[in-house]
Amino acid sequence: MSYFTWQDKFDTGIDDVDREHRILADLISQLHDAFASGKGETAIGPVLEVLIEYTDYHFKREEALMDQYGYPETSAHKAEHDSLKAKVYDIRNRYESGEGSAIGNELLAFLHFWLYFHILDVDMAFRDFFIAKGVAKANP
Ligand SMILES: [Fe+2]
Repeated sequence: MSYFTWQDKFDTGIDDVDREHRILADLISQLHDAFASGKGETAIGPVLEVLIEYTDYHFKREEALMDQYGYPETSAHKAEHDSLKAKVYDIRNRYESGEGSAIGNELLAFLHFWLYFHILDVDMAFRDFFIAKGVAKANP
């Protein structure tokens, strides 16, 4: 069974955003599986690189959408993205300076927090706004 099982409550109703969130959830599951199989340390590096690139791409797209439609909470949402990005960079730097698998559990806990808290709280907050704009589906 997958470490992170997608549930309907994670759907924002914005197709592109939901597709990208599912890819992030899949990356987290891959990382968890690597740890469960004892390959955690060698798996962290490549997953972190993909995660950093994908996060950057995904956050830019969400931010472009918020800018395009004039979402009133855009700057607070961007600040949340910046702090998530800073945390991923911090974990990457520590991994590169040799902390290795010691950061594994912290990384998984952080990513789990990100998906649960950021998607359910911060991203979900823009759902009604984007439904009203005709961008999000009311019943995804
Ligand atoms: Fe977001």
